[in-house]
Amino acid sequence: MNKIKVMTVFGTRPEAIKMAPLALELAKRPEFDASCCVTAQHREMLDSVLEIFRLRPDYDLNVMEPRQTLSTITAKCLNGMDGVLEAAQPDLVLVHGDTSTTFAGALAAFYHKIPVGHVEAGLRTYDKWSPYPEEINRKLVGAIADLHFCPTAANRDNLARENITKGVFLTGNTVIDALQTTVVKDITFSEDILNNLDYVNRKVILVTCHRRENYGQPMAQIMTALRRVADAFPETELVYPVHLSPVVQEAAHKNLDGHPRIHLIAPLDVREMHNLMARCHLVMTDSGGLQEEAPALGKPVLVLRRETERPEAVDAGTVRLAGVEKEPIFQMASRLLSDRTEYDKMAHAANPYGDGRACRRIADAIAWHFGRRETPPEEFGA
Ligand code: UD1
Ligand code: UDP
Repeated sequence: MNKIKVMTVFGTRPEAIKMAPLALELAKRPEFDASCCVTAQHREMLDSVLEIFRLRPDYDLNVMEPRQTLSTITAKCLNGMDGVLEAAQPDLVLVHGDTSTTFAGALAAFYHKIPVGHVEAGLRTYDKWSPYPEEINRKLVGAIADLHFCPTAANRDNLARENITKGVFLTGNTVIDALQTTVVKDITFSEDILNNLDYVNRKVILVTCHRRENYGQPMAQIMTALRRVADAFPETELVYPVHLSPVVQEAAHKNLDGHPRIHLIAPLDVREMHNLMARCHLVMTDSGGLQEEAPALGKPVLVLRRETERPEAVDAGTVRLAGVEKEPIFQMASRLLSDRTEYDKMAHAANPYGDGRACRRIADAIAWHFGRRETPPEEFGA
């Protein structure tokens, strides 16, 4: 019997982290002929993930340019995908999440009349400008996709509200699969500052901030709040691995340089990042992925955004929305740093996003869709 030709397409750091375990799962199963195409919308930050998971892409579009615009990424990915799809002729293209690569990858497959599977489907804020452009990217991909792999039941309900009910599978998020392979008991970090921090007696706050809708004023406000937190709480050490975007680099260095307890460091590889998260006291972030990982590790999260498409951990009590204005961010952080009961209320492990078996379910669902399995996979949480 012919193998099912499945091509995974991704381009940024978070897509790579969440697709790598799936690409590896597909590659080891006999029913699939798995291939992998990276757009390299991110270059260094993507390559770091590929190295950790020992993944060798079959195609690399190498599209990244400094200060790239949404249009150039989309146009370059779309053009590049033409030749790749022509050559590989996959039976199914898998894209992930909501980036420009995701949208362009799905659109290119559609133009070639190749079915599309959407991993991490159904997340919504219902605000077209936040996250920007991700909310619209994922909606557009939802309209194109034939198979939708939803991390949570709420994500599946979102799709149902858009009348997308066919080809929908409840799988959990593949990030939890990734997380289960990276966290270890002992680790030596590549940055000395991380090896020398006292994670028991000091309060290490892990910070990330990179979203396009936070560029400018919101990012400046967030960073002012972070500096105030460091000033007001001498027991804190803020560790901020700064995204390579020049806009973010400039903002971070302008607002946070020169403080003895604010450590601006280079992006960490995913293994170091997960292990730092496992050791820190608190996470302050506008990242999507960190909102899923930190609860699994029992770390409270203050989300530096106006809204979130990931309400499950807010409901579980481990994540709070702090917004993008300096005063409320400072107040919320202060409360957690000075009130042990408040902190303890948030610091418990919650796993609303997955159980480490999402990749297996997605592979099973694909096999079932192509008639190579008699039953669909059991749902996440069933
Ligand atoms: C992209 C995604 C966003 C995701 C984020 C994860 C879109 C529109 N945005 O945003 O959804 O949350 O990735 O990090 O798809 N750069 C480098 N080296 C790298 C990576 C980036 O130098 O390895 C620099 C380049 O100058 C690049 C800039 O960062 O032009 C911005 O990258 P881009 O992918 O356009 O946007 P992100 O903010 O990273
Ligand atoms: N991450 C990493 N190194 C870093 C910062 C983040 O490996 O220095 C990981 C993080 O653990 C998560 C993912 O990158 O798995 C999140 O990526 P990002 O915040 O860039 O994008 P988002 O999730 O917001 O789309």
